[in-house]
Amino acid sequence: MIPADSMPSLNARASSVGISPTMAAAAALCKHPDPVDLTVGEPDFLPPPEAREAAVAAIREGRTKYGPAAGLPALRDAVSQDLARRDGVARAAENTILTAGGKAAIHDALRCILNPGDEVLIFAPYWPTFRDQVLWCGGVPVIVQPGADLLPSVESIDAALSPRTRAVILNQPSNPTGRVWDAERLAHLAKVARERNLWIILDQVYGTVTYDGPERPFLAQAPDLADRCVVVESFSKRFAMTGYRLGSASAPAPLITAMVALASSTVTHPSIIAQHGALAALALDGSWQRETVDSLRVRRDRAHAALSGLPGIEVQLPQGALYLFPKVSQWMASHGVASDGELVARLRDEVGVKTLSGAAFGAPGHLRLSIAAPAAELEKGMERLQGFFGAK
Ligand SMILES: Cc1ncc(COP(=O)(O)O)c(C=O)c1O
Repeated sequence: MIPADSMPSLNARASSVGISPTMAAAAALCKHPDPVDLTVGEPDFLPPPEAREAAVAAIREGRTKYGPAAGLPALRDAVSQDLARRDGVARAAENTILTAGGKAAIHDALRCILNPGDEVLIFAPYWPTFRDQVLWCGGVPVIVQPGADLLPSVESIDAALSPRTRAVILNQPSNPTGRVWDAERLAHLAKVARERNLWIILDQVYGTVTYDGPERPFLAQAPDLADRCVVVESFSKRFAMTGYRLGSASAPAPLITAMVALASSTVTHPSIIAQHGALAALALDGSWQRETVDSLRVRRDRAHAALSGLPGIEVQLPQGALYLFPKVSQWMASHGVASDGELVARLRDEVGVKTLSGAAFGAPGHLRLSIAAPAAELEKGMERLQGFFGAK
């Protein structure tokens, strides 16, 4: 091991922003001999066969050289068309860049938007990466606290604004709650964004994973905001292509041009092999996607039913995404458990169910459980949770 005590120092950001809490918790060691992992938001399906074959064919046929920094033109076009079909906003291929996952799309957009000290509104409960990325990009995350329904009130949105506010990040359906905002909140956010000249980063990586009715993309409801929105999409959840590391951002051309310049100096472009797989995935007729969402809906309903009615536990039915986010604070209070971190450790080590703490998502007193685990594992996990919460 190389000694670390006399090395030169890291910068302030690298010293203060830690590893993603969700990745750290997923990697935590478990004392139970037969753990059930409900931490990771990764569908257990394989990607569609066409996407796998297309990626393999690209390797076999040697289509593996450097490509354009913005991504393959055909894929930029396919992503733009796909998005336009869903949200009704016509886009040119020049309005889209391919990125190494949705994560990189959000990061690169923030990197091109923020000046040091600019504030970004993030709505709790939030995906912790939003906060960390704002910090990595020199901005200031401003957390908007939710009401009892786990959504922000219009008053709390107004109270969080300041002259330094530069952007908001809206993630729907949300990780971790699976919620989608109602029309009144969306209209208020749209009004504020117009009045204050804000960017809106729309994280739609779970957009197609909706269980009770059609997808409701934000821009379909406020198309006149397209000139200030960055729509972030991903092949990870929609096509179970997590390890391909492919996502996209669609936005006004000047921002995309800046993001292409950034990519050209950093990653060059996301994997060409993955891009060929993605082209095949987008060319599918939608039946693979419907079948996988149907399978996830069964798991959502089963997991929700298993936790509903347990004493001291409140659980909402998520409208989309891959998670349940039960409120466990009452159970904790009546069982002398001081923090949801302590509860997560007990669940992990005593009954072998790995979960994430609500505190990591800015909402202490909750747990995040992934419903994307294989159905049999999820069933086993739910039985153990029922035993734990029901019996103790
Ligand atoms: C809310 C949200 N946005 C973006 C992502 C990024 O996914 P990827 O980088 O795999 O596209 C995730 C992944 O878990 C997520 O939960």
